[in-house]
Amino acid sequence: MSSTTILSVEGVGKTFGGFRALNDVTVKIGEKSIHALIGPNGAGKSTLINVISGRLTPTCGRVIFRGESIGGRPAHETARRGVARSFQITSIFGSASVFENVQIALLAQNGLCTRMFSESRSLLRDEAFSFLESVKLVEQANRVAGELAAGDRKRLEFAIALAGNPRVMLLDEPTAGMSPDERTIIANIIQSINQERGVAVFFTEHDIDMVFSIANRVTVLHQGSCIADDTPVAVRMDRRVQEVYLGEDENADLY
Ligand SMILES: Nc1ncnc2c1ncn2[C@@H]1O[C@H](COP(=O)(O)OP(=O)(O)OP(=O)(O)O)[C@@H](O)[C@H]1O
Ligand SMILES: [Mg+2]
Repeated sequence: MSSTTILSVEGVGKTFGGFRALNDVTVKIGEKSIHALIGPNGAGKSTLINVISGRLTPTCGRVIFRGESIGGRPAHETARRGVARSFQITSIFGSASVFENVQIALLAQNGLCTRMFSESRSLLRDEAFSFLESVKLVEQANRVAGELAAGDRKRLEFAIALAGNPRVMLLDEPTAGMSPDERTIIANIIQSINQERGVAVFFTEHDIDMVFSIANRVTVLHQGSCIADDTPVAVRMDRRVQEVYLGEDENADLY
């Protein structure tokens, strides 16, 4: 992992009413790293992703991206600065093709209105295909996006997010509900996005095997607090982490 930090979470806390969902969380995301955020259900993982992406305002602490404070900024502004999160299903134009969805995202990124899109289908064509190539969707380019299977739709969301030219991608459970084969495909795509485009990826994931196969840094949350933040090998060996996982569920063994 690069030693340069591209995004840091500094002493972030988040309370919902009287409930403390995040407690003094500090995480440094390295440039071009694949950084996993793990922890049992309710640990605060999605809350942290939402604080970083701007969907939630932290109760205290700061989020710094490339030297600037982004905590509490509107989500679209954070995305424009270069911190993307995989889009929700609703952001896909279901009646447009897979290719057109990426093309529209590229037009928006380049400040071109979507009216031009109908007038010039060839606009940014090569760029759109390069993003489809990165997520292995070229063969499905002409399919209607609304008819994609869940795993393919997730890949289209990645391509749309990539079209915004992010430096960091935030992925909350990118393999949720997928089969083992689909998970492997997503893991490979995350690796290639990271390696080919140099995008740092910060992701939450319950599939521990996938985490340890692709991450080069792992942060562990438990009841809103960070209990480990280290290399995958060191986190696997950490007694506290093992207790949290073994204590919760025998099947969640880290080995
Ligand atoms: N908007 C909210 N209002 C009140 N409580 C919330 C809200 N969002 C999250 N919480 C609570 O904060 C805690 C952390 O939730 P969060 O969704 O961040 O956990 P998580 O680690 O993502 O869990 P999972 O692995 O199940 O996705 C939970 O106890 C949850 O009930
Ligand atoms: Mg969650």
